[in-house]
Amino acid sequence: MSLYANQDAKKQAAAKAALKHLPQGGILGVGTGSTVNFLIDLLPELELKGAVASSEATAERLKKLGIDVVDMNQVGGLDAYVDGADEIDRHLHMIKGGGAALTREKIVASIAKKFVCIVDDSKWVGQLGHDFPLPIEVIPMARSAVARKIVTLGGDPAYREGVVTDNGNVIIDVHNLNILDALELERTINDIPGVVTNGIFALNKADIAVVATDSGIEERFAE
Ligand code: 5RP
Repeated sequence: MSLYANQDAKKQAAAKAALKHLPQGGILGVGTGSTVNFLIDLLPELELKGAVASSEATAERLKKLGIDVVDMNQVGGLDAYVDGADEIDRHLHMIKGGGAALTREKIVASIAKKFVCIVDDSKWVGQLGHDFPLPIEVIPMARSAVARKIVTLGGDPAYREGVVTDNGNVIIDVHNLNILDALELERTINDIPGVVTNGIFALNKADIAVVATDSGIEERFAE
């Protein structure tokens, strides 16, 4: 038996439980995706001065609620960044980019003192990349070259047809990677010419995961 009717109810519960970890009246970094959308709907409670958005979709949703969307160049730093994940492990390393917003997500997260990850427990995994393919944002002209390099790393690259990122680039999803050392693989893939960034968030991992499980909310920290 679960406390929650479905996965969306879990996402919403994680979002609500994360509010206490976010600054009142400040400027918040806001991620992208269906879990974060539940959080955005609750943000009026925080009476923010504004928010730095990690995607055009998030910016639109913030604006609709009357929250000021601030250009990151006007901000010296952020107290907190909040986002979902496609997968997260016990080190609080994540795979992100299912919504193709990984690059701006990584940039906004990089200036925040604290990364709050909000997920339902289906995202909690023993090993990253086992089920969810690793997204990589790539400059369009380098698509095939990057895919060939990925094959030499043991992955099976698939071009995400019809998707153009907010930065005008394309996404390659890499299946069957054995991600034993997330820190090293994040660096290795980012070093391939043509890669803008990859969806491993290990160099800058989450500081706290707010996880909605069948029996309620759990706050998890890196082991
Ligand atoms: C978007 C992301 C999202 O955080 C990730 O895909 C999780 O999305 P959702 O909350 O809809 O499951 O990385 O690029």
